[in-house]
Amino acid sequence: MIHEPEYPAFVFPMPSSSTTPLVELRHLTFGYGERVILDDISLSVPRGKVTALMGASGGGKTTILRLIGGQNRAQSGELLFDGQDVTPMDQTQIYAARRRMGMLFQFGALFADLSVFENVAFPLREHTDLPEALIRDIVLMKLNAVGLRGARDLMPSEVSGGMARRIALARAIALDPELVMYDEPFSGLDPISLGTAARLIRHLNDSLGLTSLFVSHELEQTFAIADHVIILANGKVATQGTPDEVRNSTDPLVYQYVHALPDGPVRFDYPGATVEQDFGPAVMAAPLKSGASS
Ligand SMILES: Nc1ncnc2c1ncn2[C@@H]1O[C@H](COP(=O)(O)OP(=O)(O)O)[C@@H](O)[C@H]1O
Ligand SMILES: [Mg+2]
Repeated sequence: MIHEPEYPAFVFPMPSSSTTPLVELRHLTFGYGERVILDDISLSVPRGKVTALMGASGGGKTTILRLIGGQNRAQSGELLFDGQDVTPMDQTQIYAARRRMGMLFQFGALFADLSVFENVAFPLREHTDLPEALIRDIVLMKLNAVGLRGARDLMPSEVSGGMARRIALARAIALDPELVMYDEPFSGLDPISLGTAARLIRHLNDSLGLTSLFVSHELEQTFAIADHVIILANGKVATQGTPDEVRNSTDPLVYQYVHALPDGPVRFDYPGATVEQDFGPAVMAAPLKSGASS
């Protein structure tokens, strides 16, 4: 019997090569209503690598993760996931693509009334019909990967903040995603837990053969673990490259950001009237005398 293909051949994805980026934004524009958040941006997330997405709060980092997951749709441009444009996908196609992604949400908390084990098992129970014995093995394997196999029976209220974040990491990788996205995985962690979480992201990426994309404000740890760094500013990609390339960038905005300078293209003072306009010329004419109070 000749087996008829279910779909015409052109529907099948292009074979993806290991050199093409896993995620690519091409001239993508996105706004909420009239307000443009991402303005004609192009960036790529290299396959098998750890990529950091940085930039000021409100700059559109979470929005980019939501675009990749298909929760937001671009107004123009393309968003390729493994060579396929996510933007025109229907719900079925989006769900299929999303199954290949793991996500640790910003402020993503554990379910307080579920044990550590059940928190990690949750996506497996939601999205698969795997038998209980297999779920157990997978959950223990994922907990082992984050060093918390022994904590399986604890409740979230019994673990530290750093441990909770690691359990959330284990949950994000429960379904063996190809791409893992972490939205501010280091926020609120003490320096030791932060270092542990950062090394874990790197380690999971390499040992499980993942592609990782994380949003972070932590310059030092981020530059230590990332292969590729993207910095957003004013709705554009200010720079992207290796940590060294970004660190040595001469772009004034990137320089200010990377060196954490209070003043630069991003002003310390909120724009407004000048000092002279607000206080009159007398203030300008009579500067404080040095040593006047001693
Ligand atoms: N659902 C929404 N509706 C309207 N504006 C939003 C919505 N979500 C985010 N924004 C705005 O879009 C901008 C980018 O947000 P976001 O992507 O969360 O920034 P970041 O993660 O870089 O801090 C912010 O100014 C935010 O207020
Ligand atoms: Mg955010």
